[in-house]
Amino acid sequence: MNRNNFLLIVFTAVLFYTCQDGRFKQGEGLYEFYCSSCHMLDGSGLAQLYPPLNASDWLNENKDQLPYIMRFGIEDTLYVNGQEYTIPMSGLPELSAVEISNITNYILSAWDNDLGKMSFKEVQNSLDSKKD
Ligand code: HEC
Repeated sequence: MNRNNFLLIVFTAVLFYTCQDGRFKQGEGLYEFYCSSCHMLDGSGLAQLYPPLNASDWLNENKDQLPYIMRFGIEDTLYVNGQEYTIPMSGLPELSAVEISNITNYILSAWDNDLGKMSFKEVQNSLDSKKD
């Protein structure tokens, strides 16, 4: 391999990783702005009022609903890590699908979470999965 090709590959790899990092950073910033007031910066939630997003067994089993909840909210009796939650959460219709995707992928791997990634198509499917 000549030197130019090598540099091109290195450059592309760096670009790829900084781009991934940029999305994660945007997700983190949006999370702090839109979600952390209730779910806390470290995703631990608040007492019996707001459920945790870090190490949440509910999220682990329902991660496909995460984008949907951000846009449309959720009003249900939820059991998260053995604790009951009943206060409804309002949706955030001002968030675009791209922003929701970045927040989703931030939460899925933030803190102790290791819940994989969600493709943009999966995020779209979740947003389109109107229940009721
Ligand atoms: C005003 C407070 C508030 C804000 C802001 C808020 N939530 Fe919630 N969230 C709640 C409450 C309350 C529930 C429980 C809803 C229920 O019991 O039906 C909840 C439940 C959830 C759940 C399901 C339960 C769990 O813990 O796994 C997820 C996921 C979630 N919120 C994500 C988010 C995300 C992402 C944001 C930011 C885009 C956000 N929330 C912003 C209050 C809030």
